[in-house]
Amino acid sequence: MNFNPLFLLLAGFCFIFALRGFSSAQTARRGNLWGMGGMLLALIVTLGMTGGYRLAGVLTALALGGAIGSAIAFRLPMAALPQLVAAFHSLVGLAATLIAIVMYAVPGAFKIGMPGTHLGRSVLLEIGLGAIIGAITFTGSLVAFAKLQGILKGTRGVLRLQPFLNALTGLLILGALAGFIVLSDPLVLLILIALAFYLGAGLILPIGGADMPVVVSLLNSYSGWTAAATGFTMNSAVLIITGALVGSSGAILSSVMCKNMNRSLFSVLFGRRSPPQKGKEGGGKADTSSIKVGNAEEAAAILRHASSVIIVPGYGMAVAQAQRALQEMAALLIQDGIRVRYAIHPVAGRMPGHMNVLLAEANVSYDDVFELDDINADFACTDVAFVIGANDVTNPAAHNDAASPLYGMPILNVEDAGTVLFVKRSLGAGYAGVDNELFYNPKTMMILGDARKVCEGIVQTLK
Ligand code: TAP
Repeated sequence: MNFNPLFLLLAGFCFIFALRGFSSAQTARRGNLWGMGGMLLALIVTLGMTGGYRLAGVLTALALGGAIGSAIAFRLPMAALPQLVAAFHSLVGLAATLIAIVMYAVPGAFKIGMPGTHLGRSVLLEIGLGAIIGAITFTGSLVAFAKLQGILKGTRGVLRLQPFLNALTGLLILGALAGFIVLSDPLVLLILIALAFYLGAGLILPIGGADMPVVVSLLNSYSGWTAAATGFTMNSAVLIITGALVGSSGAILSSVMCKNMNRSLFSVLFGRRSPPQKGKEGGGKADTSSIKVGNAEEAAAILRHASSVIIVPGYGMAVAQAQRALQEMAALLIQDGIRVRYAIHPVAGRMPGHMNVLLAEANVSYDDVFELDDINADFACTDVAFVIGANDVTNPAAHNDAASPLYGMPILNVEDAGTVLFVKRSLGAGYAGVDNELFYNPKTMMILGDARKVCEGIVQTLK
């Protein structure tokens, strides 16, 4: 009896458990193990199904790929994770394109037709679609990588014609796909792939660098659908399951990110933002005399006299790499019997889970880290909200200024706390480019400086 389909189904279940694990920081490691186990099982069964055909070559490729992947992952700083994901997605796209070419050239190896005979139209459609989505994913991910790495800059304004060229290329691709299905011509397949390569780059080029995390998640989704399309052609249930899981989870993640950034996917993809408010952008309101500014010693005194503190980290904590100094500060407060918790906004930082990863790196206990919905009501009964390098995710304009680009975005209600300590380098704006009225609130004290240096100063004073 052939148990292979059963084992492959089991691998599919492992991937589902992996995704379940990724839904919280506490279970993410377990999720990773499920994913790795599922992948190992799928690999072993697939190798077994080929009867060890060219086993040495396959194992060498696996060892080489595994070694390169591990070397990169170990050396990479956490903050560079989005570009690593983009670079890896480009490989998924390239693999899908190459598989489509090989399927067309050697259909017998995939049991989809005999060499020399005309391939069925549905098979040609599947090959064409796999090649298109793979090629778009490949160049799109490469451009996303180059933008995140800072290799490509300032393309948004330059490429005004790009949407038009993209639409034209899209139409040409549809025409070439129809031609490929009718003619089954290898030259048409290559033209199709070249056009899709161009479209992938053209779609991502005009998108702003800070919107790249949404784009990376979207490309992740594309790579999943590419795998699923290949799975249909190869009649591989495990590829269809895995591809659909990756495709749908990437799409859901993109949509969750957009919702929490208060933007539509359309505005991210086509570079539309709400216009910044006049006089409210960047450097703050004209009259800043009402703003209370303090220093690390004053902050330490306020914290020492509190009985409960909620820390709100944001992008600036990542820039300053302040997580360890922050954890040390929190540990001293806890020693003094003060209740300390961390509140994480879903889009704090610049990638999903950015703050969770940094806090985990600094050995902050998962039990002290809370999601927005679980902690927001508690600000009202908290003495001090310690906002470190966060800005937009605390901006009350999201509640009370219908003209603000942040209006409607869920925020952490730090203004409800007894005192708000705001650690950042200046009175400048955050990612959304708008002023934060919290700076002017009489409850707020601004501690202006690099987040890590401020935390180290507070630690010294507390000691
Ligand atoms: P932001 O609103 O971007 O504010 C970060 C603040 O950190 C800035 O105002 C900056 O002020 C300060 N900062 C920078 N470097 C610092 C340093 N070395 N020390 C101290 N402070 C420093 O960040 P946020 O509150 O985390 O909000 C995230 C924003 O990014 C949201 O608007 C969100 O929509 C957007 N976004 C998020 C994601 C994901 S998935 N997380 C993806 C794309 C976009 P100074 O310059 O004055 O120091």
